[in-house]
Amino acid sequence: MRRKIVAGNWKMNTLPAEGIELACGVAKGKGEVCDCVNLIVCPPFTHLYSVIDRLRDTDIAVGAQDCATEVKGAYTGEVSAQMLAALGCEYVILGHSERRQYYGETSETLNKKMARAYESHLTPIYCVGENLEERESNRHFEVVKAQIEEVVFNLTDLQFSKLVIAYEPVWAIGTGKTATAEQAQEIHAYIREVLRSKFGAAAEQCPILYGGSCKPSNAAEIFSQEDVDGGLIGGAALKAEDFIAIGKAF
Ligand code: 13P
Repeated sequence: MRRKIVAGNWKMNTLPAEGIELACGVAKGKGEVCDCVNLIVCPPFTHLYSVIDRLRDTDIAVGAQDCATEVKGAYTGEVSAQMLAALGCEYVILGHSERRQYYGETSETLNKKMARAYESHLTPIYCVGENLEERESNRHFEVVKAQIEEVVFNLTDLQFSKLVIAYEPVWAIGTGKTATAEQAQEIHAYIREVLRSKFGAAAEQCPILYGGSCKPSNAAEIFSQEDVDGGLIGGAALKAEDFIAIGKAF
């Protein structure tokens, strides 16, 4: 049985007080969600600590949305994996398409970030996904394969056993347009096949989350697919009741 995960990526939204209120709302609704589902919230850096503090007595985990490529030192503005771990973060989102697209993250950058995350015992949620042009020219399989080969294939077996992957088609992020359940299943199964070619049977245990306009009205259908193990939720994670409703979709 693979772990089921519903993770909220708050992106650059909420002020500290709003973030705390949102986290408390999620904690309040957690009882409605099956214990078999791991809930994770990923607030902005500025309120990670307050949110971790509020969620201390719950089993809701907290993740960051990024970490630095370097361990420590003269890197103005960066936040290290060690700092995040020391705060009590358990996860870190790496390789989100917004970071690849707007901040030039490459596989080279991401290999370093993955190494830093593992050194600090953070679990990476590694994001892959094609853009609209790549989907329309039927190149989505090769794009996703390269994003996995160039980064995930460099992990040791032990590191891979802790990894979470999120498939997020860029054309579905924040657009209101979701992949159909069939499209999601097709590519999730393909991702698992790519993982199996390198890591063998361990690929069966790797949670692969879907992200891109996932909401209470479509979550159940997407999550019902064999190779979809949960979701990485953007917009709908900003309302506690919607996030909880998505958690209940399992
Ligand atoms: P939306 O759910 O807002 O489409 O965002 C998905 C996403 O990018 C999560 O990381």
